[in-house]
Amino acid sequence: MTIKETLNFASEQLKSSCERPLFEAELLLAYHLHKDRVYLHAHENDDVVENIEIFEALIARRASYEPYEYIVGKTSFYDIELFVERGVLIPRPETELLIDEVSSIIEKENLTSIAEIGIGSGAISIVLARKFPSLKIIATDISADALNIAKKNIETFRLSDRIALMQTNLLDGIDAKVDLVVSNPPYIAHDALLESNVIDYEPHTALFGGDIGDELLKQIIIQVRERKISYLACEMGYDQKASMELFLTQLGVQYTRFYDDLAGLNRGFIIKF
Ligand SMILES: C[S@@+](CC[C@H](N)C(=O)[O-])C[C@H]1O[C@@H](n2cnc3c(N)ncnc32)[C@H](O)[C@@H]1O
Repeated sequence: MTIKETLNFASEQLKSSCERPLFEAELLLAYHLHKDRVYLHAHENDDVVENIEIFEALIARRASYEPYEYIVGKTSFYDIELFVERGVLIPRPETELLIDEVSSIIEKENLTSIAEIGIGSGAISIVLARKFPSLKIIATDISADALNIAKKNIETFRLSDRIALMQTNLLDGIDAKVDLVVSNPPYIAHDALLESNVIDYEPHTALFGGDIGDELLKQIIIQVRERKISYLACEMGYDQKASMELFLTQLGVQYTRFYDDLAGLNRGFIIKF
């Protein structure tokens, strides 16, 4: 089959699983051929696609709702590309805002020692470590799969001497003094309806925060306060501001600022204890 015929076939296969079937077919064919999309258009009638059965297998995976990022094993986040595979959450664009929030605190307060709860692929810690060369980070995760993937990404960016990993619940067992904790914890309610590409492929330990969804966020606030750490910056669900505000008021926490995402939805908070 030519490139054009292959794309026609593939976009037909992706019609029910993808919003933009032709675009996704092009991305996967470009990946299969180690070329870019411009090349596909320039050679659509003259090149024959080799190893078509391998490409068909990629299309079958995407047609079964597997995320594109797991199929190609990578994703773009902030200013870097990260390795991802099943077992770790695919970092979301809104989490880039959490990095900007934390960056301004690190800059303003000259912080050199922070912790991340739930490092996942390494997205937040790696971007922060690259932005701030004096920064040391202790990062935890409860999932061994996530920590293995984070380790691989940390090694790729040669940051193993500045990001220490630990498999633990929240900050349990961490004694080192840190000035700030950042976290994008699981915050979805256990019965929330999620799309197949999320619920059937992404790790549930990375998605669900409890019956209501904000249980882990609340545990994080309590742990950070108990440890007398100055700052906490967390991502949260767009509908969790009221319950977090109430919880913080009940705890008597003085300074909190909520921030919005680019769609104008409540997306996270910063606490200075
Ligand atoms: C929403 S993902 C965020 C991953 C990554 N930080 C990001 O922003 O893409 C939440 C992460 O927290 C981890 N996690 C869940 N429960 C945890 C707990 N009790 N203690 C530490 N990590 C936890 C999950 O395994 C997952 O990697």
